[in-house]
Amino acid sequence: MSAIFQKAYAFFSSLPIPRTRIDGWRVLITGANTGLGFEAAKHFARQGASVILACRSRDKALNAKAQIDALLGLAPGIVQVSIVDMESFDSIRDFASSVGPLDGIVLNAGIASGIWNVTGDGWERTLQVNVLGTALLGRLLLSRALERREGAASTGTIPTISIVSSHMYQFAEFERYIKIEGNIVKALNDENSFGMGESDLMTPRRYSMTKLLAIYIARELAALVPKASDGNPMVIVNCVAPGFCHSDLMREFNLPLLGLSKTLFARSTETGARTYFHSIADAGLASHGKYIDNCKIESLPPKIFKTKEAKELQKKVWDDVMEVLEDVAPELKQENADLGSTKI
Ligand SMILES: NC(=O)c1ccc[n+]([C@@H]2O[C@H](COP(=O)([O-])OP(=O)(O)OC[C@H]3O[C@@H](n4cnc5c(N)ncnc54)[C@H](OP(=O)(O)O)[C@@H]3O)[C@@H](O)[C@H]2O)c1
Repeated sequence: MSAIFQKAYAFFSSLPIPRTRIDGWRVLITGANTGLGFEAAKHFARQGASVILACRSRDKALNAKAQIDALLGLAPGIVQVSIVDMESFDSIRDFASSVGPLDGIVLNAGIASGIWNVTGDGWERTLQVNVLGTALLGRLLLSRALERREGAASTGTIPTISIVSSHMYQFAEFERYIKIEGNIVKALNDENSFGMGESDLMTPRRYSMTKLLAIYIARELAALVPKASDGNPMVIVNCVAPGFCHSDLMREFNLPLLGLSKTLFARSTETGARTYFHSIADAGLASHGKYIDNCKIESLPPKIFKTKEAKELQKKVWDDVMEVLEDVAPELKQENADLGSTKI
């Protein structure tokens, strides 16, 4: 029931319209051809940034670019299109190596599915797109953001990486994950555990699990960021929840109450995307390692984030994800070891 009240709160909260000018910034958004990513691209471009639409379909991305260019009357090079398939580690690696320095990175691409499907890399699709792919791209792009901070072309801003989560993380089966022995992502990559937990019309469990893991990953990625000489992190890493929005995210679910709750409580994707703009352009240093909901830094529930068990689980998730990703990108092992690790 509390989730319903939270949705109602989100619906009735007004979110700040983007006003900060970010001229000269390079902002990358994954999954920017539709939904929240598309609306966020408009916000960033309107406020002066050049925007990279990082999408899996060139046609969809070009169509999105054409719409944004026409709407805002932009010169051709302001919005760019780049191809990345978050279901493919190779695609993510190729993309990350070619993208160049960045001031803002929104890791938005995500799926929700109740159908067991395995990617070409051998992972359940939701787990790969929302968790492993997001962690790999975030980790690889941290290096691009650090280059931007150090490079001569720097705008003087602190580059920011925002990982998109959801308040649905609260429905993840935290108690169950802390009992998993061995590599947690490998254990979750099992069809027998796909629909695990009691069935619940409102809370697709796997999606919730991926969004909890995304928060853990954001917090651990933040902890890896080295400090500048002023003691502040060289790059800001935060985690953002856009709130319940009218998108096609749940297209693969047949949830009887979804339509009704959307009608009652969902905000537009334009409004939801303001949270992305805020997390990149406005939230600043205070948001490093933090979870941002409704454009405000939110305290996370101690049971899932602050207890000894919770902290151990967060660390285990990161270590287990990195164990998988270091097989895919062996250079990460040394690079992770080289980066600072001041825990948040
Ligand atoms: N909508 C909500 O109520 C809500 C609430 C909280 C959090 N979120 C989060 O917000 C993010 C965006 O969701 P949305 O609501 O805007 O959903 P959406 O309209 O379904 O958009 C999802 C985007 O992700 C892209 N994507 C999916 N798989 C991909 C892959 N393998 N490689 C590259 N791109 C891929 C999609 O591309 P295609 O068009 O090619 O499929 C699309 O551009 C997600 O991370 C979601 O979990 C949404």
